[in-house]
Amino acid sequence: MDSLPPWRPLLRAALQREGRSSSSRWLQLATVASDGTPRVRSLVFRGWSAPAVLDLFTDGRSEKASELRHLPAAEICWLLPRARSQFRLRSRRCQPPSAELLKQRQHHWQNLTPSARALWGWPEPGIPLELQAAFPQELDDTTPMPSHFELLSFEVHQVELLELGGQPHQRRRWCSSGSWSEELLNP
Ligand SMILES: Cc1cc2nc3c(=O)[nH]c(=O)nc-3n(C[C@H](O)[C@H](O)[C@H](O)COP(=O)(O)O)c2cc1C
Repeated sequence: MDSLPPWRPLLRAALQREGRSSSSRWLQLATVASDGTPRVRSLVFRGWSAPAVLDLFTDGRSEKASELRHLPAAEICWLLPRARSQFRLRSRRCQPPSAELLKQRQHHWQNLTPSARALWGWPEPGIPLELQAAFPQELDDTTPMPSHFELLSFEVHQVELLELGGQPHQRRRWCSSGSWSEELLNP
């Protein structure tokens, strides 16, 4: 396995400072809609599938999923308040070969809790509310994975870290094209 890019231990340390708070896994994903205007929303961080590949889950019927099919570029903003740190990850959606992707999706689907899985049993997101539709509270381990359980993997190619801990603030950048060497920037 490749070695970790230098920003990964910094991100891990900032995450550790958040303790057990579930909100430390919330990040913001920005995409570009087909009319060229920006969209942003919060998602739960699900893990790393490679040193610089970050995984998220979504509903394949959602707008973000179609935006990413249209334009795979995305920026992820991750604020870790205890460390007073903001990480901005410039990324591109990537997909492994289909057999491998299916294996990864199955693995993640099985590992979700029944209540987390339930969201993929709800009707299509973003269309007018269907009160008569079923909104299950849980989907048990035997529920087959729906085709709209989507794994979003992002290959990170640039990271910017802003730390507000001291004066002046510290701002640094790493680019994969520069072998992840660190550049110091004015805050
Ligand atoms: C704290 C928090 C965590 C969320 N986590 C996810 C998530 O992991 N995946 C997801 O698709 N939506 C998640 N959502 C909902 C999204 O923010 C968004 O409302 C939804 O996915 C529809 O987005 P879209 O219409 O831009 O596709 C989360 C919302 C909040 C407030």
